[in-house]
Amino acid sequence: MRILTGIKPTGDGMHLGNYFGMFRPLQEISKDKESFLMVADLHSLTSVHNGDTLRHNKARMLREFIALFWEDRSIIIFEQSQVELHNDITWILSSVTPYSLMLRAHSFKDAEAKNHEVNMATFNYPILMTSDIITYDVDMVPVGKDQKQHVEFVRDIAENFNKTYKTDFFQLPEPVIQKDVGVIPGTDGRKMSKSYDNFLGIFDDEKTLKKKMMSIVTDDTPLEEPKDPDTCNVFALIQLLAPLERQQSIREKYKKWGYGYGHAKLELLDIFLEYFHDARERYTAMWEDMSEVQEHLHIGNTRARSLAQTKYQALKNIVGL
Ligand code: ADP
Ligand code: TRP
Repeated sequence: MRILTGIKPTGDGMHLGNYFGMFRPLQEISKDKESFLMVADLHSLTSVHNGDTLRHNKARMLREFIALFWEDRSIIIFEQSQVELHNDITWILSSVTPYSLMLRAHSFKDAEAKNHEVNMATFNYPILMTSDIITYDVDMVPVGKDQKQHVEFVRDIAENFNKTYKTDFFQLPEPVIQKDVGVIPGTDGRKMSKSYDNFLGIFDDEKTLKKKMMSIVTDDTPLEEPKDPDTCNVFALIQLLAPLERQQSIREKYKKWGYGYGHAKLELLDIFLEYFHDARERYTAMWEDMSEVQEHLHIGNTRARSLAQTKYQALKNIVGL
């Protein structure tokens, strides 16, 4: 059993949506399986066109991953661009993948709706993602709901290759979507996302977090009136992070006189800081000393390269290279 997931080092670091949509499911299902967490820097190139920015984002993300997975040495962290064979495998897959299939990809359709010009890498994005996964004979891909279509594409692209070459060489992976969590709401109530600037960063400084939390959109029920926790964005986030007893006590307060959304937001801040206390401390320490990060990466990149080499040799044989 093997699992793999990837995340692009774009934007302002890991947020709560990434954590619950990707990290937690990964941690839960990775316990007895070989598990890979890939920094998808090649995928970032479709939208980040400044070398320093990409380098900075990647260094930050690696520290974040390692701070969060400190105790979990079973998760193998590697850099996509350090396994160059993903590109070679992408070329081979591109040579059999129908253009008409690719036109249906969300990533392409969204980009086309937004931009005048779509770059070729955005168009090919699902093929590279397919290589990321099928190179490692992955059984499961833990992702948020929004990535489900991508994983279905991975299956279609891999299956099409298998049919073309009359083989079962590439394993078809299953997406694993954590059901209870689904889409984590951002401060404006929409899906939490870097692109909406409505996110709570796990490693944001306290002042920034406070400011963002105080701006969470709520209805305008006055302080004196009882409030419904089940329709409140603040409570939705509290439910993710607080121990059950604390959730219950906050739920009670919502229903009473004199507990306002401001109070709930301050409690959320407190709960958030407690939940991520250890990871945030480790993260700060890693800016001083990078050796831990380097050591982790060396192990991860070496393991990924070795698996990719074996798979690619066999693939070359199938296609006649
Ligand atoms: P963003 O929308 O901030 O750019 P990404 O697209 O980089 O986030 O998402 C990285 C991972 O985190 C993906 O697996 C994605 O499904 C998951 N994810 C991101 N935002 C959320 C959210 N609000 N709820 C659940 N999962 C999310
Ligand atoms: N497409 C994913 C995203 O936008 C990133 C990604 C790249 C990925 N390769 C992957 C996710 C392989 C899971 C598996 O967030």
